[in-house]
Amino acid sequence: MSFPPAPARFFASDNFSGAHPRYLSAVERANSGHVMAYGGDEITKQATKLFQELCDTDVDVLFTFNGTGSNIVALGSLLRSAESVLCSEWAHIHVDETGAPEHILGIKLQDVDSPDAKVTPAHIISASSALGNVHHVQPGVVSITQATELGTVYSIEEIRAICETAHSYGMRVHLDGARIANATASLGGDVATFRALTFGAGVDAVSFGGTKNGMFGAEAVLLRRGVASDRSGFIRKQSTQLPSKMRYTAAQFVEALTNNFWIETASHANKMAMRLYDALAHIDSLQISSPAVNSLYPILPVAVKERLQAWNFFWDWDVSRSQVRWMTSWDTSPEDVDAFAAGVLAAFSEQ
Ligand SMILES: Cc1ncc(COP(=O)(O)O)c(C=O)c1O
Repeated sequence: MSFPPAPARFFASDNFSGAHPRYLSAVERANSGHVMAYGGDEITKQATKLFQELCDTDVDVLFTFNGTGSNIVALGSLLRSAESVLCSEWAHIHVDETGAPEHILGIKLQDVDSPDAKVTPAHIISASSALGNVHHVQPGVVSITQATELGTVYSIEEIRAICETAHSYGMRVHLDGARIANATASLGGDVATFRALTFGAGVDAVSFGGTKNGMFGAEAVLLRRGVASDRSGFIRKQSTQLPSKMRYTAAQFVEALTNNFWIETASHANKMAMRLYDALAHIDSLQISSPAVNSLYPILPVAVKERLQAWNFFWDWDVSRSQVRWMTSWDTSPEDVDAFAAGVLAAFSEQ
């Protein structure tokens, strides 16, 4: 069979894309002279202030190198001794971090069945039965991912209910926001939406993703003061996430948070996923749902899947069901989407 020309960009991951030129320019501008190291510089102070304004809550801001590290710093700052973290069976901290939270923090993760990758208040209530029993690890933190590892999004009401339930048992709530920008863009597209989804709903710590949204090596942990440990700075250093030349990380966030550029790029990625869905939804033997963010999780016949992957690489998601993931990025163009959709149609036409 003959495939059309492959798109210029892959649909495998938003991590496949490069850095946005605006972030490269921001780093270039920051590259002047000597300044205080380890966050004592003016750019880091500026980025911290912008984050505090964004959150509209008393938060500590810790810049980090990667998302796994952010999650470790956030969880380590919320946990007390003998406590566990409750998370979905799909959670990145559970399946995609090589056991780093367990290894570095010495804690137990308790994953719950969640076909849509969401934790619910019922999961928390069920786990709370261990509280006070000296033979059981004590559930101390609930970790949710927004947008989830299956491309679903929690509504503001769902997050509020999780926080209320968790807090009623003395547990704290962590939000893995590797794609919080895409969720924010999907649910309202403004700063008010971000606040309502996070600290406004009662979340205690956010891992705020930058890399998947066009930055490079730039992530941030936002910690509600008075709830998170005041040892978080030490936890970051011990987990090797303290950037010495922090100005380069911070400069990217100054660029992102100025005029909500971070929401603009995520919104574009989301729109490209919807364009792909619109181009393919009519195919009978393709099981595909309308995307909430920048990812699609279609189920397709194995032979079609294999032909397509040989043409243009993308990841399997649930091999047992021949489910894959297609993901768009800040730089995916309408032409890329149309070229990829043409390839999918060609693969199906061979059936
Ligand atoms: C939900 C989620 N959390 C965290 C991360 C961060 O991972 P990394 O340590 O590779 O930056 C990712 C990356 O794929 C992710 O999808």
